[in-house]
Amino acid sequence: MIKIIVFISGRGSNLKALLKNENEYQICHVISDKPDIEGLAVAQAHEVINSYINWQDRSRAERIATDIINNEAPDLIVLAGFMKILSTEFTEKFRNRIINIHPSLLPDYPGLNTHQRVLDDNQTIHGATVHYVDGLLDHGQTISQTHISVNHNDTAETLANKLITKEHKLLTQTVCLIANQQIYWHNNCLLYNGKALTKPLVIE
Ligand code: GRF
Repeated sequence: MIKIIVFISGRGSNLKALLKNENEYQICHVISDKPDIEGLAVAQAHEVINSYINWQDRSRAERIATDIINNEAPDLIVLAGFMKILSTEFTEKFRNRIINIHPSLLPDYPGLNTHQRVLDDNQTIHGATVHYVDGLLDHGQTISQTHISVNHNDTAETLANKLITKEHKLLTQTVCLIANQQIYWHNNCLLYNGKALTKPLVIE
């Protein structure tokens, strides 16, 4: 069974969804850049070892996170609502082992306030993406996407609410595909069931 470390910054609903499927993998540690958040309470309720790291000094924070990762030796690191930008030095150290969930159809709308920006542009389709993390913001090999339609009466809040349940499914199913080795790296090429993944898997 693969070992996973999950990074969070907030309420931890994606973490909770991942914990529900733990028969496929083991979450060995949860790291948060904020103290006293709901996500840490979720980790504690599930008796998962958890650490708060003060991220004011990024180099120091990443050194502490690196020590934890080296001690736990996870197969995968999942950024589940983790709101800090990791340095290239850090992401390179764990190249092809860090994934992130982002609430937009990347490469469109990297960064913050994705729902409002989608509305401002009168988009009719929105969604979320799970991707491997490289040194750039919300960037790296895309793995999977889910979609929602945008209606004329939607607000940023209704879009976020519609999307979050689909995000949970997208993230857990993607992690399961990695855990079951249906998705894996070979010679720097991401394979899905033995074939190069040329476009994102659609998980609705
Ligand atoms: C999710 O929408 C995720 O895509 C975004 O932050 C939110 C995190 O939610 N980056 P939660 O903390 O998992 O509930």
